[in-house]
Amino acid sequence: MNDPAAAPLKAHFLLDPEIVFLNHGSFGACPREVFEDLQHWQREMERNPVEFLGRRSGELLAQARQALAHHLGAQAADLVFVPNATTGVNVVARSLNLRPGDEILATDHEYGACDATWQRVCEEAGAVYRKVEIPLPLDNARFAQRLLAEVTRRTRLIFASHITSTTALIFPLAALCAHARALGVLTLIDGAHAPGHIEVQLDALGADFYTGNCHKWLCAPKGSAFLHARQEHHQMLHATVTSWGYVAGTQGHSGFDAYTGRTVLERRLQWQGTRDIAAWLAVPAALAFQQRHGWPEVRQRCHDLAIGLMQRTAERFSLPVIGSPEDFGQMVPLPVRHQDAAALRARLFDQHCIEVPVTQHAGRTFVRVSVQGYNSVADLAALEAALDPALEAAL
Ligand SMILES: Cc1ncc(COP(=O)(O)O)c(C=O)c1O
Repeated sequence: MNDPAAAPLKAHFLLDPEIVFLNHGSFGACPREVFEDLQHWQREMERNPVEFLGRRSGELLAQARQALAHHLGAQAADLVFVPNATTGVNVVARSLNLRPGDEILATDHEYGACDATWQRVCEEAGAVYRKVEIPLPLDNARFAQRLLAEVTRRTRLIFASHITSTTALIFPLAALCAHARALGVLTLIDGAHAPGHIEVQLDALGADFYTGNCHKWLCAPKGSAFLHARQEHHQMLHATVTSWGYVAGTQGHSGFDAYTGRTVLERRLQWQGTRDIAAWLAVPAALAFQQRHGWPEVRQRCHDLAIGLMQRTAERFSLPVIGSPEDFGQMVPLPVRHQDAAALRARLFDQHCIEVPVTQHAGRTFVRVSVQGYNSVADLAALEAALDPALEAAL
């Protein structure tokens, strides 16, 4: 970790060495040993699928959930595994039983697939999905106020990202969650990018619902994510696929809570028919990998590199940045000339072998760079060379 130019963790990942991979944010890379743990669980399943899925899965999943809950400052009973954050958002949206005239408030920085979910669910119910502008640059002091000022007596829920997709901003959520609760409005936080990237303490944050990915910044295998719900909301949450988790006393499963006389959240939501649960079981291996490699220092090094790159690019292009260093983690939006985003992304990949997304928000274009433990100073230098302002002007 002493040489800032080196990428000390590169050898632990399976990434193609020919590619400068600066897009951990879209589909994060998984370290070799975590991937091997995934395969270990798959082999274990194939030794006796009936025993593994029918009799062992409940206990194995409980252990994995416990490890994740501990990492996230949460109670395991409030947490269920889902395949991805999109599913987490869908579960909450469909469980709300929206009525005509109800309203969902969201920021104008939300992820497209989640916007689509809310639009569809609201349309079906005759409800309204309303976006509230969060202007750039981000003003942390006014963030909660902007959303709360739009609350009406029809507002059922506020939806906001913990870290946004197109603009990579960390939204300040604690005050929003607390004030929304005081107004009787639910909160759902989209933490797709947050676990393993910034400190996430779910009980302390106090959102009503929080969904997050393990397969992005925690470096767990694809298909590992979670949904967290405060205890008072467990009974209202329903799986998008109804299965054995809804049947009391199912053989081999402790899905029935004798105390409440109801099926518990974990069984209702996690068991959705036969499927591969290995990615969920490999989450503890991902947590152990990050712990062993001193992740707080890795994150800090990546943050410093990312911020330096953003500031240099803004200066070279004479464009303003959209937040201060504390508003970002390891992912930053480099401001570039407003242009065809797809064409710039394709040029960077086709001509320079750089995998990096180009995003747009409010009439501006950004190269959204993710810096992960496997990235080197040379990776960032390659992008800087490819983003030459003189070259850009000539295009
Ligand atoms: C902010 C945000 N929310 C949700 C998602 C969806 O994540 P997934 O595809 O794992 O469901 C993403 C994916 O990049 C995202 O950036």
